Amino acid sequence: MTTAHRGPRLLIRDLEQIASPAATSVPARGRELSEVTVLQHGYVLCEGERITAVGSMRQLERLDGEVEELDGRGLCAIPGLVDCHTHPAFGGNRVQEFALRAGGASYEELHAAGGGILSTVRATRAAGEDGLAQAVSRHRGWMLRQGTTTWEGKSGYGLDRNTELASLRAVRAAGGAATWLGAHAVPPEFEGGDAYLDYALAEVLPEASMLAGAADVFLERGAFDAAQARRYLSACRDAGLALRLHGDQFTESGAIPLAVELGARSVDHLEATGPEGVRALAASSVTGVLLPASALFLGRPMPPARALVDAGAAVALATDFNPGSAFCESLPLVCSLAATQLRLSPAEALTACTVNAAHVLGRSDRVGRLAPGYLADCVLLGAPDWRYLAYHLGGQEIEAVVLRGEVAALG
Ligand code: NIG
Ligand code: FE
Repeated sequence: MTTAHRGPRLLIRDLEQIASPAATSVPARGRELSEVTVLQHGYVLCEGERITAVGSMRQLERLDGEVEELDGRGLCAIPGLVDCHTHPAFGGNRVQEFALRAGGASYEELHAAGGGILSTVRATRAAGEDGLAQAVSRHRGWMLRQGTTTWEGKSGYGLDRNTELASLRAVRAAGGAATWLGAHAVPPEFEGGDAYLDYALAEVLPEASMLAGAADVFLERGAFDAAQARRYLSACRDAGLALRLHGDQFTESGAIPLAVELGARSVDHLEATGPEGVRALAASSVTGVLLPASALFLGRPMPPARALVDAGAAVALATDFNPGSAFCESLPLVCSLAATQLRLSPAEALTACTVNAAHVLGRSDRVGRLAPGYLADCVLLGAPDWRYLAYHLGGQEIEAVVLRGEVAALG
């Protein structure tokens, strides 16, 4: 099948395998999550920013005119990966806290003592607009190296007007989908969550809603409660933003019912979700975003992924890249964790970090598949089988990344 498009042409030929999610309904649920079409010995033709044809080498017709060719022998093609949950806009690092945690300190204790997220808030405020833009651009380069061609980036380490808006601008400038995580923690200059939200909704939301496509809240003991999250998200929805929630990370504090009530795009984390939450999420149109690298990094229980999928929930996978709970930008590693810790098949993992992640970002019509009409984003794995994506734990299979029809420089 082909569609007509203009622009420079790139032919990736003689690929061992081309693997792309087959799900017809998006977000994919149940059996459809595991349906991946695998074409042996094929080609992908890109014209300008789009894929115009995918097929078997036997059916490749002669192409007249100028065509750049990429030799795909020994390589498997999968869609460019979609990371629908990252926190790349931060200054400083948390390596000292990491060492303390390795010695037994808990993430929640460090947070309660003014470390954790608030220590990154101090470093991010000090970074300045240029420092923040450089940090996001560096982090985006790391993601690309791991095959991520579409990504979401949250603010949330500024928690004041200037730094939140600078974070959103930095994400957009680096090509990300910006999410305003205005309710991440209560900054020290405010008495409590309600006083901070008075400020954030009056002073930051009007401009944040012009820069971001979505809003997010950390609904958790020690952060924002369900009533505060409802207030924040309702105001953001009224300003035209899609809604996301960090929920059930440490405790079940009402995130799933609130996400369902407000028609949120996703509820993310779910490490503490019990059977009732699994049932409620499965019966809803909200996608559960699973972040196994975060659970691993904090030594927390893994989310009930198998139960969610078996109950019919829509699930996506993401990294949660951030300096405190998941200093990891690798979706291939997340796919390995999905297969080894979450009991998802490699095919379910691929669908979860392509098509379903694209759905969470409202972009499933453009990214997440190798098919005509989709953006020409493609990862080439140096492997005999595309499932090496999940199989090779910490492997370095990525030989090349095609981004919007061009072979990307991988720094
Ligand atoms: O998704 N849980 C809340 N926010 C981030 C962590 C932020 C941090 O520790 O800096 C998360 O895990
Ligand atoms: Fe997060």
